[in-house]
Amino acid sequence: MNSSYQLGDLAVFSVGAHPKLSSAICEYLHIPLGQMEVKKFNNENTFVRILENVRSRDVFFVQPTSAPVNDNIMELLITIDAAKRASAGRITVVIPYYGYGRTDKKDQPRVPITARLVADLLTTAGADRVVTVDLHAGQIQGFFNIPVDELTVVPLLVDYFLKKKIPDLVVAATDVGISKAARDVAQRLNAPLAIVEKRRIGNDDSTEVLSLIGDVKGRPVLTFDDEIDTGGSLVSALGALKKAGATQLYATASHGVFSNGAIDRICGVSDLEELVVTDTVPTDEEKSHPKLTILQSCDLLGEAIYRIHNGHSVGEMFTY
Ligand code: R5P
Repeated sequence: MNSSYQLGDLAVFSVGAHPKLSSAICEYLHIPLGQMEVKKFNNENTFVRILENVRSRDVFFVQPTSAPVNDNIMELLITIDAAKRASAGRITVVIPYYGYGRTDKKDQPRVPITARLVADLLTTAGADRVVTVDLHAGQIQGFFNIPVDELTVVPLLVDYFLKKKIPDLVVAATDVGISKAARDVAQRLNAPLAIVEKRRIGNDDSTEVLSLIGDVKGRPVLTFDDEIDTGGSLVSALGALKKAGATQLYATASHGVFSNGAIDRICGVSDLEELVVTDTVPTDEEKSHPKLTILQSCDLLGEAIYRIHNGHSVGEMFTY
């Protein structure tokens, strides 16, 4: 970024879920992180106060809606309300990871579409626009009646693996739903695509591998998914790939949600060389593992904020 540009009345705040990423975004933008406080009263009511003037300013609130999901969503809604009542000029919510994104359709009787409900809540609270990263399904953009800039960390992940120069690599989609995005990853890496066909069992987090489409025998494989949550899908996929004759195994995903000891479960797979995600979801430092690499998304988000604030194209960031 050319630091000689005037950023004017731009203000970026960390609502609280990911202060490290929010500070790194501000470093990229050469601006101080905005000051605000978020706390819970004894009765569990959340309280927010923006500690500086935001009247007429172009404000961006950074808050991945990762765990604790409901608290993080509520904090964000209350923050938007506070900013609206403080006469902010424009309110943009920066949600690097959009929680509830997987509840995006009515695929069985009497279930909600929570991804849509959250979109309605954000809009009703007063958000003017959304910046997010690699939604579970691109159609979630349409759940909002306000502009959504969906960024992607795929080029970041691809560049990382291009530099590794792994000969004979095959890219494997960890389920059919992600195969289109995995095809894009494979093309960028100049590698063939394989697809692991999985089935979810009931409404808990269990999955079962049904079959493997494609040939991985004697070749290193890189799995791709939009997110890794419990790691169940990935561990099953790695097992199926190994059984089919894959040599080295690598795994990557945009978002490392990593619930319920997922990092240890995945990194415990002895044939896995490396697990690579980005920092769209905060990761507990204590949970780090020698096989885990976390790439930084601050430049991507910072550049998008810079362009939105200055009325420049965001799409141009991804044309190459
Ligand atoms: C689901 O459709 C997603 O693309 C991921 O495969 C899923 O979120 C992974 O979940 P888990 O790690 O719990 O198997």
